[in-house]
Amino acid sequence: MKNKAIGVFDSGLGGLTAVKELIKCLPNENIVYFGDTGRVPYGTRSKDTIIKYGAQDARFLLQHNVKMIIAACGTVSSVASDLGESLPVKFSGVLEPTALACANATKTGSVAVLGTSATINSHSYKKLLEKINPNIKVYEQDCPLFVPLVENGFTDKDDIIVKSVVERYVSQFKDTDVDTVILGCTHYPLLKAAIGEALGEKVKLIDSGYETAIYTKKLLEENNLLSTSETEGEREFYVSDTPHNFESVAGRFLGRNMKSTATRIDIEKY
Ligand code: DGL
Repeated sequence: MKNKAIGVFDSGLGGLTAVKELIKCLPNENIVYFGDTGRVPYGTRSKDTIIKYGAQDARFLLQHNVKMIIAACGTVSSVASDLGESLPVKFSGVLEPTALACANATKTGSVAVLGTSATINSHSYKKLLEKINPNIKVYEQDCPLFVPLVENGFTDKDDIIVKSVVERYVSQFKDTDVDTVILGCTHYPLLKAAIGEALGEKVKLIDSGYETAIYTKKLLEENNLLSTSETEGEREFYVSDTPHNFESVAGRFLGRNMKSTATRIDIEKY
């Protein structure tokens, strides 16, 4: 059981920002990644559709005999909040670890959440943060242009288009008492430099992929499920649309040169 892979999925390649952090803190774990590139984005879709897609993504990963599944997607974690209950393996979304880190980080008690429209409309982060700390003040902002920017390679903080889109969504939090901002979508770490510059260095940015990776390590440790392998883990990548250019695009999200390519699968079969 211990040496089975961790299954990770996202609507597209954004979840690779969580894989990047997993590789750093759990280098010997095998990882199977599924990016639903044929149906991205999820963040503009209805609740029913997001629930259906999340369940199919998890069923695909279960076929790979994984020991745990991570929904490395703020949208699925927010909207399909019961997904983990139906699975026969350990499960984590990005919500709980990220909200906890945010609640611990804020000193002013004023925080903001950036996410897809589905994530923000669900108020998932706001509800959870208020449960953790009833005195916290939570501002919410959906950022529908961030995912297309990132998927199309627009991430340079000095790019005029990136700068103006980021300003448009986050400038309202500048010079307020908001001191902590959740990057509530796994695509957003690629815009971290631009968001950080727009908000100023006093504002702490919480990366949901990083927090989820740290939480995963703890969960595997507590359940005696850490890999016993002493060599670097193997990684397999699957997508639901063309794997053309996967190495270069995925390399951007993973922050390293990719050697592996991806296999295309038909997610509608699951
Ligand atoms: N990466 C997904 C998330 O974390 C968002 C992308 C999408 O809209 O599909 O919410």
